[in-house]
Amino acid sequence: MLSLEQTTAESIAAESCQTVLWDGDGGLCQRAWVEIDLAALTHNVKQLKNLLSPHTQLMAVVKADAYGHGAVAVSQTALSAGASWLGVATIPEGIELREAGIEAPILLLGATHTAQQVKAIAQWHLQPTICTAKQALIFSQVLVSLNQSLPVHAKLDTGMSRLGAPWQEATEFVQLVKGLPNLKLASVYSHLATADSLDTAVMKEQHDRFKWAIAQIKTSGINPSSWHLANSAAALADPDLHYDLVRVGLATYGLYPAPHLQNIVDLKPVMQVKARVTQVKTIEAGTGVSYGYQFIAQRQTKIAVVGVGYADGIPRNLSNKMQVLIRGKFVAQVGAVTMDQLMLDVTDIPDLEVGEVVTLLGKDGENQITADDWAATLGTISWEVLCGFKHRLPRVAVSSQ
Ligand SMILES: Cc1ncc(COP(=O)(O)O)c(C=O)c1O
Repeated sequence: MLSLEQTTAESIAAESCQTVLWDGDGGLCQRAWVEIDLAALTHNVKQLKNLLSPHTQLMAVVKADAYGHGAVAVSQTALSAGASWLGVATIPEGIELREAGIEAPILLLGATHTAQQVKAIAQWHLQPTICTAKQALIFSQVLVSLNQSLPVHAKLDTGMSRLGAPWQEATEFVQLVKGLPNLKLASVYSHLATADSLDTAVMKEQHDRFKWAIAQIKTSGINPSSWHLANSAAALADPDLHYDLVRVGLATYGLYPAPHLQNIVDLKPVMQVKARVTQVKTIEAGTGVSYGYQFIAQRQTKIAVVGVGYADGIPRNLSNKMQVLIRGKFVAQVGAVTMDQLMLDVTDIPDLEVGEVVTLLGKDGENQITADDWAATLGTISWEVLCGFKHRLPRVAVSSQ
């Protein structure tokens, strides 16, 4: 283990890992960082690919900086491991991938409307989602003026009540998109609202509506090359939902969308969050810790200060409720999590030194803390936990294998 003085993003990378993906710490990776296990990512993509029939393609959903993991490295790794599509939410997310030299097809899952957006999408060879007739007309007009054609993806709302044309109007909508100049209908798709639920009634209803739309569209003589419906949960839950493409986010990152969907494939968490002890001190019984004294020591207590806080994405609502791992042992966090620092009760860890590594999320020895653990405490979902880590934390690539 390197001393605190020796620690830079590069030295952490050299010590246990491979590459610095992104360093927001000005070259110094001393305080806290996020480790991205690209071997685990490769493993997850291969596991998911094995679940699919040979004709079904895998889209790695890499929006929101690949759920906080770093979009470029994740995309490159996922593509090498067997993904053939990438999904982003916004145009800048797509441009970032193109600027990194990625040539795979990129579906823009979010809505785009303006002429300026259409031009950027065309320039960067992104593939838009079309949800309304008005949007389709704008795309067609601008593309005609550019003398350029673009593959487009018609989205149906089968019950999510988010983006998409009403499923009842699927045929008219898809006919319109297909008929407009310079639009090449690449796929028709929809998104499921409750695929991670044990109760499959809503998912079945949405699937029935999608099947109905497919039949109607086919009857009208339109046969796009791809139909798709499944997110991670649906990809794990039922092969009937796979169609030509599955759009997988969470599972790529090694988390299960729901407890009942575990054990279908073996997934390994890709992200670990670590920080270092910056001071160790002993306080007497009755002494308060941190803002508001949410914790008062009941005994003489050894406290470790750790250089990570809510400005890094450690939710303040975990104050006094979270545990971390040091030397493979669970340690309680105490007092309010502050902007840049938090405190631990390390009374039971002998000879703890400044610079020792604290695992906030991840594995240390036999023990592990997952985004699901945090989500359960916070009353949220693991998706939000993963996306919550700020760019102030350097991302460092590690390899578990
Ligand atoms: C349209 C669409 N498809 C697929 C996904 C991937 O979802 P998940 O992370 O649950 O796999 C998302 C994510 O929200 C999405 O919006």
